[in-house]
Amino acid sequence: MAPSTSSVRLMRVVVVLLLLFPVLLKANEAPPFSVKAQLILAACKSVGEGSTYFNVQFCEGAIGSVIGGSADLDYQVFGGIAVRLLAENATSTKAKIDRLLRGGGGVKLKAEDDVAVARCLQSCQSLYGGILYDWLACTAAVKTRLFGEARRILEKAAAAAKECEDGFGKNNVASPLSAEDDDAFKLAKLGVAFLRLA
Ligand SMILES: *[C@@H]1O[C@H](CO)[C@@H](O)[C@H](O)[C@H]1NC(C)=O
Repeated sequence: MAPSTSSVRLMRVVVVLLLLFPVLLKANEAPPFSVKAQLILAACKSVGEGSTYFNVQFCEGAIGSVIGGSADLDYQVFGGIAVRLLAENATSTKAKIDRLLRGGGGVKLKAEDDVAVARCLQSCQSLYGGILYDWLACTAAVKTRLFGEARRILEKAAAAAKECEDGFGKNNVASPLSAEDDDAFKLAKLGVAFLRLA
């Protein structure tokens, strides 16, 4: 299959950076200039600068935390990384929900809120279960370049994370999952943005 124009553009950035690499090293002896970091920054700028869901910094933090030495980085790879990070996030969030439902996790609840919080947590447990259930299909869709299908699954995941968070607000109780819901929502939207360019 012919590469999309966006991955051609990204490849051009890589080529230019690689050509500049020795020059930049000479001009700037140490510390070594990281082509990988520049590439991640360029890709994150292309999806993060116009986004209302996440910023360039969130993207850099997420993608930069896992990228290996792979030479063929493109939007498909970046999208796949976001999908993987989302699954890791959802796995640990679901474990936290299980802990909270067993009464652990160090979150102190006011007695009168217990029932409402527990009900919200149960709903979140099934929402995150759904994200994890869909994960294999999403990964397969990215690998086989069915990007529309992968984006549909990711949008569903973003909506699930938002629904989990909104449940607490609707019941007027504090969410013990704010940070997790926020991360899951942003990672899903990050995946959508990359796969739109893939
Ligand atoms: C979830 O994703 C966020 C954003 O990339 C990251 O900072 C955090 O470490 C992740 N948590 C887990 C448990 O994977």
